[in-house]
Amino acid sequence: MKNPIFPAAMLLAATLAANADGQNQPAQQSSVSRTTGDKTVKLCDNKTTVQVPNDAPKTRAEGQRISDALMAQWKASNPNSDWVQGEVEAHQVVVPADNAKLVGTGQSSTYGSVTNQDVQVWKNETYKTAVYGSKVFHSGDELGSEIAVSCDMCHPRAANTHPETYPKFQPQLGRVALLRDMINWCIEHPVRGKVLAPDDPKMRALEAYILAQRKGTPLEYGKR
Ligand code: HEC
Repeated sequence: MKNPIFPAAMLLAATLAANADGQNQPAQQSSVSRTTGDKTVKLCDNKTTVQVPNDAPKTRAEGQRISDALMAQWKASNPNSDWVQGEVEAHQVVVPADNAKLVGTGQSSTYGSVTNQDVQVWKNETYKTAVYGSKVFHSGDELGSEIAVSCDMCHPRAANTHPETYPKFQPQLGRVALLRDMINWCIEHPVRGKVLAPDDPKMRALEAYILAQRKGTPLEYGKR
């Protein structure tokens, strides 16, 4: 089992040690900061970048700061985008279709006709997948982010993910992308998390959540 407290404590200890060194021996401060170094965090567009010190605290506040810095640059060079500015609100996940009108008709796997229980099971199981996706989407830890960045920091309630436009040609990938390819690309840049296998439960749940949030939007694959 991974223990998220341990690396955080190590980082904190390292930061404190670096500060203590800096105060006691100012001549060595630059060598201390040079050894910790920076990493370049790239945005999903494969162009915008920010430098993040390797010893930056792995907290949600720091992750939000990195996301805000990337988005400020992106918005400056994309002034006409229809980016949703809405506040990041409680993780409201859209409910799946209501199949209640099928009760008493057709065929279900168990009995000759669809029961209320069938409809409830379909709905609960589908909804659970989307809700798990919401959990992953909102958590740097679930995404394995090195820098505590999660998808919701830039895509509140999955805004601007446009799942209805997939598959489509994505210039930053240089090929036709499925939604999961773009999810993985964003996990690499800017989240700096762990790329997911196509059938990984987290990938399946992320797809479910992103699609759930766009319920009712007409499909338009290939649209840019
Ligand atoms: C730091 C801000 C930021 C974070 C964090 C982020 N994205 Fe993005 N994402 C963007 C921007 C900006 C674009 C648009 C890039 C472009 O159009 O070139 C984008 C594009 C996308 C697209 C393609 C949208 C389209 O119109 O086709 C998807 C899908 C997506 N992101 C999903 C995710 C997922 C899933 C995560 C978390 C794993 C994530 N993003 C994390 C900023 C972010």
